[in-house]
Amino acid sequence: MVGSNLFQTSRFHPIFDTSLSHDFSYTRAYKVSIDFFEFTASHLPPNAFLVCDPKIKRPTTDRPLLLMESAEDNKSWMGVEKIIQFLQQHQADRQSILIAMGGGSLLDLVGFAASIYMRGITWWAVPTTLLSMVDASVGGKTAINVNDTKNLIGSFHPPRKTIIDLAFLDTLPPEHYASGMAEVIKMVWTSDAKAWEAETFYNRENIVPYAIDLKLKVINNDWFESSVNKERLILNAGHTFGHAFEKLHPHLSHGQAIALGLMAEHDFATYFTHSLHSTEQLRQVFNHIGLETDYKKYLTDVDKLIDLMVKDKKSQQEMLQFIVAKAPGQPYCLRCSVDDVRTFVSENIS
Ligand SMILES: NC(=O)c1ccc[n+]([C@@H]2O[C@H](COP(=O)([O-])OP(=O)(O)OC[C@H]3O[C@@H](n4cnc5c(N)ncnc54)[C@H](O)[C@@H]3O)[C@@H](O)[C@H]2O)c1
Ligand SMILES: [Zn+2]
Repeated sequence: MVGSNLFQTSRFHPIFDTSLSHDFSYTRAYKVSIDFFEFTASHLPPNAFLVCDPKIKRPTTDRPLLLMESAEDNKSWMGVEKIIQFLQQHQADRQSILIAMGGGSLLDLVGFAASIYMRGITWWAVPTTLLSMVDASVGGKTAINVNDTKNLIGSFHPPRKTIIDLAFLDTLPPEHYASGMAEVIKMVWTSDAKAWEAETFYNRENIVPYAIDLKLKVINNDWFESSVNKERLILNAGHTFGHAFEKLHPHLSHGQAIALGLMAEHDFATYFTHSLHSTEQLRQVFNHIGLETDYKKYLTDVDKLIDLMVKDKKSQQEMLQFIVAKAPGQPYCLRCSVDDVRTFVSENIS
């Protein structure tokens, strides 16, 4: 694993080149202490095309730029079409580089458009939310939503370069910062008992490189989510209930929905086993950073909730699967019938 020891400045600006070796393991070369705006002024490639979230500080450039909000609604065929038309209008070709600056939803969308335009062009990711820095920009998954199903269509098309400038976080509303923290907490709870005990994951200065390395450890052996290696499933903890909550209650941020999902899935798992570690500590950590944990009030429509979970691409042959931790750092996968889940939801509906 490379990375963490290179982040020694208190405010770092990592740029990492991501490349795939022949066996698809993920390698990164960090360059530190480069301000994104300084960087873009002197280094923006002459063949770059930018898609930027309007809420962030934008680089001054004469390169074609499309403004597009990072939003679930834009993660759609219509969003893809807008980007493809923008590229076509400006005569982008196979050598062009598409640069996405925004939150995870914009990165997912732009990455997907880059993967299909002229059968795939290079793209760079400039994540501007905590969640997109620690999660959505790592791993090369791109996606759009179709009807009720999140991330139904997508591809594995990693950004060639990822540029993280923590200064973007200065304008990020606290609820979106907390949303990113939810994914970090999920990863620590399921896969790093040591960090969980030491509570080191709270440290704002270290959080981004720490979380990137943790995610890379999980995905490096299983780049394409093959059925042979189940390690990557760990990242889905909280996401079976979480995606359904997100769809049913659109005001919830992705991370907030995942925090609720994680609490619901652990309670559900205690239905089947009494040997689970208490989730009290998990609840306290979520509450401490301003995330809600009372998932029961979001169990508002049993049929719709179950329908959303079944449609989720993580379900297989009418069975739903959940990743829970027996104890911090000890994940396991629980597979259950839809009826079991329905009973649980019906009994807990408020
Ligand atoms: N590809 C992956 O591996 C992966 C992993 C995790 C999550 N995701 C996806 O990421 C998405 C969630 O990403 P998100 O949490 O970044 O939310 P988001 O992309 O919806 O952005 C949240 C909000 O923050 C605003 N914003 C962005 N940067 C800002 C800044 N610097 N200052 C002020 N406002 C800013 C945006 O305009 C938006 O309103 C979901 O669609 C999820 O499916 C993908
Ligand atoms: Zn997520």
